[in-house]
Amino acid sequence: MGNKFSDNVMANISRVDGRAKVTGAAKYSAEYDIEGLTYGVVVGSTISKGTISSLDTKKAEKADGVLGILTYLNVPKIAGYEGVSETGPAGLKIFSNNKIFFDGQPIAIVVADTYERALYAASLVKASYVKEHTDTDINHNLEKAEAPKGRKDYSRGTVDAYKTAPVIVEEEYIVPYNVHNPMELGSTLAIWEGDDKLTVYDKTQGVKGSQHTYAALFGLKPENVRVISTYVGGGFGMALRTWPYAAGTAIAAKLVKRPVKLMLARSQMFTQVGYRPYTIQKVGLGATKEGKLLGITHHATGVTSTYEQFTEGTVNASRFMYACENVNTVYKITPINLGTPTWMRGPGEATGTYALECAMDELSYKLNMDPLQLRVLNHSDIDPEQNKPWSSKHLKECYTLGSEKIGWSKRNPKPRSMRENGYLVGYGVGSGTFGAYRSPASARIVLHNDGTVLLQSAASDIGPGTGTAMINIASVMLGIDPVNIRFELGDSNLPNAPIQGGSGTVAAVGSAVHDACEAIKSKLFELASSTENSAFKNATPDKVTYNNSGISYQGASVPYNEILKQHQLPQVELSIESKGNAEMQKYSMYSFSVSFVKVYVHPLTGVVRVKQVVSVVDSGKIISPKTAESQMIGGAVGGIGMALTEEGIIDHRTGRYVNNNFADYHVPVHADIPDIQVIFVDKPDPITNPIGTKGMGEVSLIGFSAAVANAVYHATGKRVRDLPITPDKVI
Ligand code: MOS
Repeated sequence: MGNKFSDNVMANISRVDGRAKVTGAAKYSAEYDIEGLTYGVVVGSTISKGTISSLDTKKAEKADGVLGILTYLNVPKIAGYEGVSETGPAGLKIFSNNKIFFDGQPIAIVVADTYERALYAASLVKASYVKEHTDTDINHNLEKAEAPKGRKDYSRGTVDAYKTAPVIVEEEYIVPYNVHNPMELGSTLAIWEGDDKLTVYDKTQGVKGSQHTYAALFGLKPENVRVISTYVGGGFGMALRTWPYAAGTAIAAKLVKRPVKLMLARSQMFTQVGYRPYTIQKVGLGATKEGKLLGITHHATGVTSTYEQFTEGTVNASRFMYACENVNTVYKITPINLGTPTWMRGPGEATGTYALECAMDELSYKLNMDPLQLRVLNHSDIDPEQNKPWSSKHLKECYTLGSEKIGWSKRNPKPRSMRENGYLVGYGVGSGTFGAYRSPASARIVLHNDGTVLLQSAASDIGPGTGTAMINIASVMLGIDPVNIRFELGDSNLPNAPIQGGSGTVAAVGSAVHDACEAIKSKLFELASSTENSAFKNATPDKVTYNNSGISYQGASVPYNEILKQHQLPQVELSIESKGNAEMQKYSMYSFSVSFVKVYVHPLTGVVRVKQVVSVVDSGKIISPKTAESQMIGGAVGGIGMALTEEGIIDHRTGRYVNNNFADYHVPVHADIPDIQVIFVDKPDPITNPIGTKGMGEVSLIGFSAAVANAVYHATGKRVRDLPITPDKVI
């Protein structure tokens, strides 16, 4: 262990919970079986706007095994519903009245002694409605679009300066509805002990966030609510908040006075847990004949629900991605009769960079210039939006590393000029960026006298490998073999950690683990140097090393377990909170990525196959190389889905999804995924946090769909500006 964490070479350890996950030993929220368990099934509205005029639950109540049916007619008093209008702590105030805001909105939860009986009884609930006119087509709702509360248009220099530039691109780009569709369905198991103690096994990306939501909903002290989420089968953003179905499950458990388990059906994952909002974007770019950007204008309008304002950073990257004096952005949202959208896989930035990076590609062809060269020429050396230096930025290195790997220089830049095996061949590039955030987080560390270490934090792992990264940090810092370190997460009783979102877990929780290891090393040093005849009497903390599970100084060394035994201590432990400092304010902190893709396009059918991917990332120090590589591959897979196959289709007359299943909503499958090569710049950021990381989850996908669209243009000469790039649009 060097004195600086970032000097360490990180071990390439495998996912610590991989075995549990692939053998079925890992227990997901809906897999807990407890005494007195009952099963809930959501009955969804069949209209998307209006009111319930009558609700007939009599037949369902008489069905075998039914224990109760929660509706707005029998909802118990909910503290979090008092004094607020349509929305409460968990979004829509579910079951608080007869109003309908979207198709599939829960109108009842049927609880029975078995799942099958609950499902059958749910089919017997009959509702009549007073329907109101609905039209979920964004194009018919644009006049209602406005800036979200508290968000202002952005501009520096001259507004719409691109219009007077010698070379202009002005195009419209569309990102359709994308639905998260993780493997694990939304699920909640709620257990009440009396009226004021609630335990929830919950599919969530943040146990602490869920704990506070349930506490606010039922007017309980947070310590009276325990949320457990040990394993999560993917999230992609859908479990970043507590949704009405989950609130409804806890209310139903209160009503029937039994524990209730509720798992959504796949079709309900389309309506109940958010989605990437349909977004229309207009991008204007103006440049000199030599390719210097003179103006960037980026307008975006996305949808939100009629009861909440969801906003994301769709236009934000356009303000700083390139050096340009004149930039203006406008962001609007328009309410339609769907549930509230939410962050999904790289959220707004993925949507926004699709437009920006396609427009840059279009500009490069107008300039007759290499699209990579155009990007390098307009590279922003400082953050032009905040006028601050970057904490670190190795984007140019990303361009170089990736272009060498994919053989960029060997391509014929002329569109529709390359062929292989009867296919049109295209190469495309897209760059991405995402904020490097660091939330406060806490960790507890316990060093046992058998030499093993336990780390604890209320963090989550929706797939990236949180525990693996944390164990890797502790392993290099303490010089302990990873097999002797355990990391516990996913329980709100553990020390505070932020929600797993915005690519912030390693920065936040990893820093807490780092600080906890530092603190325990000091403690061990103190203990080691305080024994009689200690070989460490004359040592100073900076002169000793920590490796092979012990402390060494000038040839003398003593194992940690010996130190504890000498002091008759069964264990040493401590908890620590870690957070950012004022120094960070002086810098602009972002991760950067560049995606290169090679596509084959069938000249007759227009089918696009991604043949090769090179993903390069500057996300600071790489903590856990193997799981980080998997994370980058995951981003590319999501990017292929976003680019080529994923699209939620809604019948706007009813506001209802017509492809709410995996047969009709196409997520990429193995056969769609080529060789994906990942390259890490792997240079520690000196500012962001003590371990030098910048976050990777989102930036792995941001800019990817543009790379595919640009490759399709290079292959075919056809520019597709509305995702996904399906064969009908290519031919
Ligand atoms: Mo991520 S879209 O913040 O789960």
